[in-house]
Amino acid sequence: MAKQRRERKHEHFYRMAKRSGYRSRASFKVKQLNKRYNLLQRGDVVVDLGAAPGGWLQVAREEVGEGGFVLGVDLQEIAKLLYENVKTIVADITDASTPELTRNNLPRAADVVLSDASPKISGIWSVDHARSVELARAALTIAEQVLAPDGRLLVKVFQGEFFEGFVGEVGKKFEFVKISKPLASRKGSAEVYIIAKGFTHF
Ligand SMILES: C[S@@+](CC[C@H](N)C(=O)[O-])C[C@H]1O[C@@H](n2cnc3c(N)ncnc32)[C@H](O)[C@@H]1O
Repeated sequence: MAKQRRERKHEHFYRMAKRSGYRSRASFKVKQLNKRYNLLQRGDVVVDLGAAPGGWLQVAREEVGEGGFVLGVDLQEIAKLLYENVKTIVADITDASTPELTRNNLPRAADVVLSDASPKISGIWSVDHARSVELARAALTIAEQVLAPDGRLLVKVFQGEFFEGFVGEVGKKFEFVKISKPLASRKGSAEVYIIAKGFTHF
């Protein structure tokens, strides 16, 4: 019964994404989180890590408008979005050269770093969790090198034994840290989002 309800909800967000022209169901997660935490503002410079196929890029562009700038980074090529102020690059966020590459592709220091990066799921909870924390830590490293003072971070992590430790690491660098699971996330999934504001460590 619960499984059927979950599938219906999944199907609901999938149909909504198709109808609204978003490239992925994931768009609704960032929309819900943005509504609750006011992460994206007009004119912002935004970096979106693990951005393919581009659903979050579309939402970010809507929010920042013509005066902002959005950079998407992914291992996979992202089909072009038809906006001059949305750019994408192919890169591994865990690579040591990616923070600099990211910074070099921005017009100025970023206001927001988003990361929805996910590992390929093995089905072994502890392995998937550890890989997800590795990606989240890579996102934090990039954020530290590209964010302007007072910047914001939204990062996905799968829950597990290293989760609390990672939240602590984020807390050392930001004034405000919250954990949230948007409605559009599948209930049974381990994913949660960490929202951090007030970047102080630069
Ligand atoms: C859930 S999808 C992101 C969906 C996206 N937010 C959207 O709305 O379209 C996760 C992405 O993380 C990317 N990814 C995984 N590991 C990565 C890495 N090491 N570097 C860059 N991207 C990575 C995958 O290629 C995949 O496209």
